Amino acid sequence: MTQMMLTDNQKSTLVQAAANARQRAYAPYSKYPVGAAVLGASGRIYTAANVENAAYPLAICAERAAIVKAISEGERKFTAIAVVSSNGGSPCGSCRQVMAEFGLDTRVLIATAMGAILRESTVEELLPGAFGPQDLPPGE
Ligand code: THU
Repeated sequence: MTQMMLTDNQKSTLVQAAANARQRAYAPYSKYPVGAAVLGASGRIYTAANVENAAYPLAICAERAAIVKAISEGERKFTAIAVVSSNGGSPCGSCRQVMAEFGLDTRVLIATAMGAILRESTVEELLPGAFGPQDLPPGE
């Protein structure tokens, strides 16, 4: 599969969108706001932040919230996803699995709230050997 090249402009637009979304995080328990922005194959950007709950395990990560928004709007492939936190934390395993469902070649930009990109990789690099649709036997 051909890998989409991202321009520096596209990267900073996506990181800025994620940083803006981070401002709207609901993270009163962890006090660790995270923002995410997904660039869909259509060119549209979908953003989200983490949403926590007094029942702690129900917290929803920014990345998955953004992906759910995008998929619900009809996107099926993502060119890139930016994740922004105070310290440029890495996407959790559940989010990596959800990213993998929609393309192993999606580029992942991990950035700080100041906009510094600390790591750039693909979903495949973040989750090698991912379980995917191809692993389900036919008819199941
Ligand atoms: N969190 C995210 O939103 N994305 C990640 O990739 C890592 C963790 C959130 C979940 C929770 O609200 C807070 O950060 C602390 O774990």
